[in-house]
Amino acid sequence: AQHAERQRVLDTLRLSREQLLQVKKRMSEEMVRGLSKQNHEQGSVKMLPTYVRSTPDGTEHGDFLALDLGGSSFRVLLVRMQSGKRHNVDMHHKIYSIPQETMQGTGEELFSHIVKCIADFLEYMGMRGASLPLGFTFSFPCHQSKLDQGILLRWTKGFKASGCVGEDVVMLLKDAVRRRQEFDLNFVAVVNDTVGTMMTCGYEDPKCEVGLIVGTGTNTCYMEEMHNIELVDGDVGRMCVNVEWGAFGDNGELDDFCTQFDHIVDECTNNPGKQRYEKMISGMYLGEIVRNVLMDFTEKGLLFRGQLSERLKTRGIFETKFLSQIERDRLAMRQVRSILQHLGLTSSTCDDSVVVKEVCSVVARRAAQLCGAGLAAVVDKIRQNRNLNQLSITVGVDGTLYKTHPHFSSVMQETLQDLAPQCQVTFHKSEDGSGKGAALITAVACRVNNEGH
Ligand code: BG6
Repeated sequence: AQHAERQRVLDTLRLSREQLLQVKKRMSEEMVRGLSKQNHEQGSVKMLPTYVRSTPDGTEHGDFLALDLGGSSFRVLLVRMQSGKRHNVDMHHKIYSIPQETMQGTGEELFSHIVKCIADFLEYMGMRGASLPLGFTFSFPCHQSKLDQGILLRWTKGFKASGCVGEDVVMLLKDAVRRRQEFDLNFVAVVNDTVGTMMTCGYEDPKCEVGLIVGTGTNTCYMEEMHNIELVDGDVGRMCVNVEWGAFGDNGELDDFCTQFDHIVDECTNNPGKQRYEKMISGMYLGEIVRNVLMDFTEKGLLFRGQLSERLKTRGIFETKFLSQIERDRLAMRQVRSILQHLGLTSSTCDDSVVVKEVCSVVARRAAQLCGAGLAAVVDKIRQNRNLNQLSITVGVDGTLYKTHPHFSSVMQETLQDLAPQCQVTFHKSEDGSGKGAALITAVACRVNNEGH
């Protein structure tokens, strides 16, 4: 009876093929709405123009700084590319921490901290005071009207520094550089992490025209036809569009599929009601969904002998890495139990371990299927844009959840194949991060800028 009761709850987290087709259809509709001049304000999915008009061609060269802000770690990088040698890229980087107080303090504090890290990095590289162009991977929704400007539309993923929304992040960065009076930046390209990832992978695989992130947050970008992007003048060629699909569902598109657990998790974030799709898919939230299901089971006496521990009531204990570990194949239940003990859930029995593993698997499976359904909408749009019966394309992917979870990628691919059967999609895992791509974009922009002068 307990088993049946648990299954009844878990069934609310299982999606049928019909439901996934609905997700794909609604995502397609939102994408079209986001691209249109008339309706984009009402859309949940922002379809932001990125001013990146082509994937890499191998002629990019020069020395660049890159920043990578918005994922699980903040990095400063130096990227050196030799002309004409497609695979000759030399990269150095250093990871810096951003204290919670800085993430949630004032914008001035945040950007001063970033600039302090750049200064430290230049010192570390023996390049103190150097003035280099910079590719700024800034992975939050930004309105761009050119490459070297990005007006922050909203913070996501737990950031909330004050005084930044509505401001140009390039200006915020340049102001902070000026305050420090130690070095100069002569050009700054703002690049979303999806776009940086697409370019990083595109450097090796010219068929890579989609970027996907499944990490702390989730998002995608792809090469769209200029004539479909009504908000940018010109009809010729293509431009990369940052879909910002994390916000899908913010107008109720996912309400039919949301469970009580999704609602609780959403309400406990600092952006309730926002980024609903992201909150059902990405690493920052999956563990919280799992924890809430486990609490529900425990309260009903279906788990942990009905004993609700303080530990289980603690937010954030189920990090992405535990979800990935628990589901690893061939992992003996004894080992699952030791992971639970490590989490401080000490009174667990072997039966408890089986239940916890099943909850993790149901939650991760739903995430991967939702992500696959969204991606089906993206690749099918590209196929239709090009009037093709069959499309063969590569997706560049990054993000800790995608890279470390044992089943996420296979479930996502199965779903994608099922929902977009006319597309042959290859996944290219990014090993180099998005900073390399940001540098490639900066290289092209600098060349064009110099030619213009
Ligand atoms: C990194 C990219 O490898 O992956 C970042 O360089 C990106 O730009 C990140 O934001 C996403 O993954 P996670 O798991 O760190 O959020």
